[in-house]
Amino acid sequence: RMYKSRSVCRRDTDVLSVPFLAIYESLIPPEEEKKKEKQVLALLEKLVRKEWPAAKLHLYGSRANSFGVSKSDIDVCLVIEEAGLKKAKIIRKLADVLRSDNLQNVQALTGARVPIVKLMDPVTGIPCNISINKLLAVVNTKLLRDYALIDPRLRQLAFIIKHWAKSRRVNETYHRTLSSYAYVLMCIHYLQMRRPAILPCLQEMETTYSVTVDDINCAFFDKVEKLRDFGRHNKETIAQLVRGFFHFWAYCHDYANSVISVRTGSIISKREKGWFIGTDNDRHLICIEDPFETSHDLGRVVDEYSIKVLREEFERAAEIMLNDPNPCIKLFKLY
Ligand code: CTP
Ligand code: MG
Repeated sequence: RMYKSRSVCRRDTDVLSVPFLAIYESLIPPEEEKKKEKQVLALLEKLVRKEWPAAKLHLYGSRANSFGVSKSDIDVCLVIEEAGLKKAKIIRKLADVLRSDNLQNVQALTGARVPIVKLMDPVTGIPCNISINKLLAVVNTKLLRDYALIDPRLRQLAFIIKHWAKSRRVNETYHRTLSSYAYVLMCIHYLQMRRPAILPCLQEMETTYSVTVDDINCAFFDKVEKLRDFGRHNKETIAQLVRGFFHFWAYCHDYANSVISVRTGSIISKREKGWFIGTDNDRHLICIEDPFETSHDLGRVVDEYSIKVLREEFERAAEIMLNDPNPCIKLFKLY
């Protein structure tokens, strides 16, 4: 009898995962998008080399870290060595170079924290952001992609959380909520903290990959093909993980004292980081440590108002996951 009831229970949880997996599948970008992305990159490379023959273009962000849904923007980093020249100047020059080849909608955004050129690819209509010498982003893109290769549940969870965050409008840094990058780190961290763990902590393992960027040494284990069955002892389904993720951020995380850290695969204290109001200009109302730029709190965009919005959304999602037998409709209801 025991055996029977267990198997019924197991089947039930799998049934709950079906709609989540369907949403995940529907968000995966079709293969054609890869081709278009290559065309855009080739075109940009050609134009940029006219002005800077030694320049290199790197794809980063969701198009390269495997957490990109269909039609996400293309994040490109232009690497040039032009000693002494201000980034804003390079950005303006780059915008001119691109405009001269009748690309449309080229905008130089020099006032932003990270100055970029924004443009729209004329053939595909895909929006594209070009930043200058942002190599740390190229490296953290690799870290995220390597984590995704370890256990398929990470990509599934992150797609669902990003989709939820976009639907509920809590993925807008200009409205002081969190970036997609922050949400993916939250997902990685959640899976590192499961017992048994679903993901390891790559930065605490033997170094097989190491680069120094902006005086920061970025080192981690990147032979992830050796970790393919790392999470096999944990049988949690995607529905359980989505529920657990929201439950954690709604009711378990200690917002007053804790920092989540993918770098260490653990929770560390705000005190240890010196992350209190008054120690710098940031508020630290929800603390997510950048894995390489460890002085950088990805929650620093969040203010007294948006922290309320965020926490209410986590609670709303947790309630739906707990009480609604068919949670997907409400969960992703457009705000
Ligand atoms: N990034 C970063 N530090 C931040 C925000 C972003 O280093 N505070 C870098 C990361 O490499 C990230 C990339 O910029 O992957 C793009 O950031 P974001 O737009 O948040 O994420 P995407 O993965 O591109 O998500 P989306 O699909 O929403 O475009
Ligand atoms: Mg992006």
